[in-house]
Amino acid sequence: MSLSAYIRILVYFLLTGIVLIVSFFPEGWLLYYLVTTPQLDVIHYLLSPLYLFIAYCLTVLFFGIVHSQIVVRLTLPFQIKPGKYPHHTNKGRLVAIRLTADGIFKSMLKVFTFLPFIWGIFLFPYGLRLYGLKCGKNVHIATRTYVETAGLVEIGDNSFIGYNSVVTGHANEDRSIVVEPTKIGKDCLVGTYSIVACGCEFGDGSTLGGMSGMLKGQKIPPNEVWIGLPAKFLRKRGEKTSNTQRDK
Ligand SMILES: CC(C)(COP(=O)(O)OP(=O)(O)OC[C@H]1O[C@@H](n2cnc3c(N)ncnc32)[C@H](O)[C@@H]1OP(=O)(O)O)[C@@H](O)C(=O)NCCC(=O)NCCS
Repeated sequence: MSLSAYIRILVYFLLTGIVLIVSFFPEGWLLYYLVTTPQLDVIHYLLSPLYLFIAYCLTVLFFGIVHSQIVVRLTLPFQIKPGKYPHHTNKGRLVAIRLTADGIFKSMLKVFTFLPFIWGIFLFPYGLRLYGLKCGKNVHIATRTYVETAGLVEIGDNSFIGYNSVVTGHANEDRSIVVEPTKIGKDCLVGTYSIVACGCEFGDGSTLGGMSGMLKGQKIPPNEVWIGLPAKFLRKRGEKTSNTQRDK
């Protein structure tokens, strides 16, 4: 590996570590202040969880911006082009680290989550946008969803990504990282516990059922419902499923 790639990776990890550690300070300070102030009046005492919550949101967004816009942009290739990057090359190593860079934002959300149910609800799309997610309006990314490699994923307006699913834009194959963007159209649903591999496309209004999987490069045409692994056509949107076991 060339010296410059080593230096970039070293600087990336160093600055990321600093961002993560420093991001503990504001909340820690506020908590310390609230706990140690002897004559905290009742109103402020009752409001203290709200103060912590606001501090938490601001902290995560502020350090998310610092990390994504300064640290990642300075040290790693921010926009990764589709293609195949062998693991053992300089480019391959830098791409591998870039692909996981948005994990810092997710880690910050988890670390500070004294309110675990909020992570993934509204901060998630904003944070992932900082790392390049192309995300429309009213998108809901549910709790514990893994939108891997945010910069390679596009999600259209009003789409819903279900709980505990994985949407990704890369795969490790043949000792290389294969990068193929994934596109989820408008008004789509990715069912809970489902997997969407790289290079997949969802036409507008399409649905992938719960516990189903799209293999690399699979495409769902608009307004269709697909289920299973690998996902297969079930019905058109709005139609009723006929001849099911339940009808008999
Ligand atoms: C795909 C889905 C929309 C289909 O609903 P539906 O049209 O009412 O279909 P039915 O429930 O009548 O099922 C039709 C057939 O598909 C099968 N099926 C339905 N969902 C399936 C799934 N996720 N995986 C595998 N098979 C499935 C049923 O077993 C049934 O098979 P049968 O004909 O042999 O009896 C629904 O099952 C689903 O998965 N919704 C996703 C909900 C979700 O995850 N939301 C996000 C929450 S966080």
